[in-house]
Amino acid sequence: MNADQTRRSFLRTTGAGAAAAVAVSALNAKAGEPSGGIKIVAVSCSPRKGKTTAQALSTCLEAAEAVAPDRIETELIELAGLSIPGHLVAGLPLAPGEKDDFPTVAEKLSDPKVAGIIVGTPVYFANMSSLCKAFLDRCGVFRMRKFALANRVGAALAVGGVRNGGQELTIQSVQAALMCHEMVVVGDGRPTGHFGATLWNMGNDDISQDEFGLTTAMNLGRRVAEVAVLLGTGVS
Ligand SMILES: Cc1cc2nc3c(=O)[nH]c(=O)nc-3n(C[C@H](O)[C@H](O)[C@H](O)COP(=O)(O)O)c2cc1C
Repeated sequence: MNADQTRRSFLRTTGAGAAAAVAVSALNAKAGEPSGGIKIVAVSCSPRKGKTTAQALSTCLEAAEAVAPDRIETELIELAGLSIPGHLVAGLPLAPGEKDDFPTVAEKLSDPKVAGIIVGTPVYFANMSSLCKAFLDRCGVFRMRKFALANRVGAALAVGGVRNGGQELTIQSVQAALMCHEMVVVGDGRPTGHFGATLWNMGNDDISQDEFGLTTAMNLGRRVAEVAVLLGTGVS
C-alpha cells in the first residue's frame, strides 16, 4: 500500500477527512469576512498590580489593537489582589471566609468575542507564579465544558529580573497548559519570531529600556491578533 492509499484509508476510518473539510471551510468563510469584531484579552498573573508584567502586556495589547483598530478590542485583566484558590480543582472547599474571584474572570474569558488570550507571568524560580498556576488550573473548567477555549489563539509572556532568568522555560510551561485546551498557540511574530514575549525587569521595576523584550511583546501582540483575525471566533 502506498503512502497516499494509507492516508486515504486512515481518513475514511476516522472520519477525519470530513472534519478537516468542515474546519477548513469554516476558516475560509471567516477569512477576510467583515464581522462584529473580536476581543483579545491579556491576563496578568503577577501579584503586583500595574508592575512589569502588566506593563509588558499593555504593550502587547496596543500592538494587537493596531492590527485592525476597527475590529479588535482589547482588555487587560489583572489577577493582582484577586483570590484565585487553586485547591478547589481538587474538590476541596473554600476555607472559612475565603473568597473566590475566579468566576468573574472566567465570565470575561467566556465572552464569545474573545478570540485570543495572552497569559503573562513574572518568572519565579524559572517558572510561572503560583497565581498563574492557580489561574491555569482553574481554567480546567473550560476544558470540562466541551473545550470551550478551543481554537482561541493562546500565547505567553514572561518577565524576569535577569535577561536569561528562565523566561523561555516559563513560557513553555504556560503554553503546555494552553495546549490542553486545543488553543492555537503562537509565539512572537517576525522578525524576532520565537516562543513568546521575554522581558527583563532591569531593576526598579523598569522594562522601558529593554528594547529587545518590548519588541518581542509587540510582535507577540501583533501575531496573536493576526491569527485571531484569520480564525475569527466560534470556529470550534
Ligand atoms: C519569589 C521570586 C522568584 C523570582 N525568580 C526569578 C527567576 O528565577 N528568574 C528571574 O529572572 N527573575 C526572578 N524573579 C524576579 C521577577 O521575575 C521580576 O522582578 C519580575 O519583573 C516581577 O514581575 P512583576 O513586576 O510583574 O511583579 C523572582 C522574583 C521573586 C519575587
